Parts: sequence; C-alpha cells; structure tokens
Amino acid sequence: MAERNDEHPRMTEGRRRLEGKVAAVTAADSGIGRAAARLFAREGAKVVCADVAERGEPRVDRLIEADGGEARFVLADVSRKEACEEVVGTAIAEFGGLDVLFLNAGTGVRRKIHEMTDEEWDHVVQLNLTGVYHGVRAALPHFMERGSGNIVITASSLGVLASPRYPAYSATKAALINLTRQLAVDYGPEVRVNCVCPGPIDTNRIREYPPRPRPLDSDQREASGRRVAGLHRMGLPEEVAYCALFLASEESSYVTGHALVVDGGQTITAQ
Ligand SMILES: NC(=O)c1ccc[n+]([C@@H]2O[C@H](COP(=O)([O-])OP(=O)(O)OC[C@H]3O[C@@H](n4cnc5c(N)ncnc54)[C@H](O)[C@@H]3O)[C@@H](O)[C@H]2O)c1
Repeated sequence: MAERNDEHPRMTEGRRRLEGKVAAVTAADSGIGRAAARLFAREGAKVVCADVAERGEPRVDRLIEADGGEARFVLADVSRKEACEEVVGTAIAEFGGLDVLFLNAGTGVRRKIHEMTDEEWDHVVQLNLTGVYHGVRAALPHFMERGSGNIVITASSLGVLASPRYPAYSATKAALINLTRQLAVDYGPEVRVNCVCPGPIDTNRIREYPPRPRPLDSDQREASGRRVAGLHRMGLPEEVAYCALFLASEESSYVTGHALVVDGGQTITAQ
C-alpha cells in the first residue's frame, strides 16, 4: 500500500465497497478522475481508466497497480462515440463486464457568448454533454442485458450557479444534472444514475485553467478557497472521489437521479 504522504493523503486503504466490480472512469489521469479511479481500485474494483493524454506520473493504471489493484489504460478522447465504445468494450473484454461508469471528463471556455467562436461552443458541448451521451449509449445495452448498472456523472456547482463568462460550461453542467434525472427515470430500477457537483477542487484544472500566464500558486489557491462559504477552503480531488464512491456503491442503494453537491458550502449562500 502506498505511503500516506503520497498525492492522495486523505485516501484510506479501502473497505472493499466495490469488491468484484468493474468500473470505468473517464478523464482518469488527473484530478478528480485520477483520485476516483485509484479509490475505486482500493475499494476492490478493476478499473478501466480513460484519458485523452498521459498526464500523471506514474500514469493512473500504474499507480493503481502499485497499490495492488488491477487497471487498464485507454488513450481516448471521450467526446467521441467510438472512444466511449472502446472504453466499455475494454471493460467487457479485459474484465468480463462493466458495473460502474464514472463519466467525469469536462472542459470550459471563459468567454461571454458574443466573444466565443462557434468552435469553442461546440467543443465544450461536445465533451461535456454529447460525450456523456456517447458514454451512456455505449454502456446501456450492456447494463440492460445484465439487468444492472450504475452511472455517476461529474456535473458542477456551476450547473446550479451561473459564473461570469462561463456560458457553455454552466449550461452543459446544468444539462447534466437534468440528464441524470432523465436517465434515472428511463433506466431504473435496474440502472441507478447520479451526479456529483463539485465546487472549487484543487486540481490541475483550477491551477491552470482558464489558460493563465502562470498557474495559480498555493497562496492564490488558498485565497480563492477562503471565499468559499462554509468550509473556507478548496476541496481535494479525493473528497469528490469519496462522494462518487458512495453513489457508485451499494451504500447508496436507495439514491438515484440525485445531484450531490460537493462544494464546501459554496452554493449555500448568495455572495
Ligand atoms: N476542479 C474543479 O474545481 C471542478 C469543479 C467542478 C467540476 N469539475 C469537473 O470535474 C471534472 C474533472 O476535472 P478536474 O478538475 O479533475 O480536471 P483535471 O484538469 O485535473 O483533469 C482533467 C483530465 O481530463 C482529461 N481530458 C480532457 N479532455 C478529455 C477528453 N476529451 N477525453 C478524455 N479525457 C479528457 C485531461 O487529459 C485530464 O487528465 C470535469 O468534468 C470538470 O468540469 C471540476
């Protein structure tokens, strides 16, 4: 087992909550996806990790293997239908099926609508919304055939709040929250579908995005965290991963169509 002072200091050794399960996680080599893939593996799942690039050192599947788990890495742009089919296909071919699909990939462009190009709008919609459509389309036939399945989607606190100059991001994240409910209605009781709505989480995305002259340093991240009502700090990726784990596991067996806000209190007050 890895040392406690590694990149996920809050992650416990696991309580086998996904024992015998197979999970697929998108955007799995950084931030929330990387923590979730690793946590799911510590909880007993075999994990297919999909990412458009190799971001982590070590890559997430090797991190999982170093923890004693089993994982496969799929280099894939999950905004594309074929890539989503490859992710699901890898789970079935390599691990004999798929139980949990964590659709976590997302992106944004910080510009007002009149400043955006059509290409920027399309890029965000294609990954954040259409990519999730392709992901669930790829998994649902398998879930329906076996009569069970669990989907967790990463929306955002900005799916319930507006944020300056973030139209495509906030619109698509809001759409994911209602898509979650829609899927839960259409595919229950066999398939449960929930989403997490993270607030500001200290990942590469927050440090480097939107493109800045230089990434936010730790003082800037701390200052930004202090503005979060309630807990007055940014969250850690594993704090979102634990919420995704709850939704992915049988501990949430009576929860479906739910949007679980994981934001330290960001959305509890008007600022
Ligand atoms: N960090 C936050 O504050 C925050 C808040 C709310 C929601 N979210 C959401 O959480 C999710 C993950 O964000 P994060 O903060 O962990 O980001 P991150 O930058 O740490 O990691 C994002 C990962 O996504 C991968 N990726 C990008 N485009 C992809 C594609 N087309 N196909 C496959 N992989 C792709 C990247 O290579 C990277 O590894 C996103 O959906 C984001 O919108 C993040």
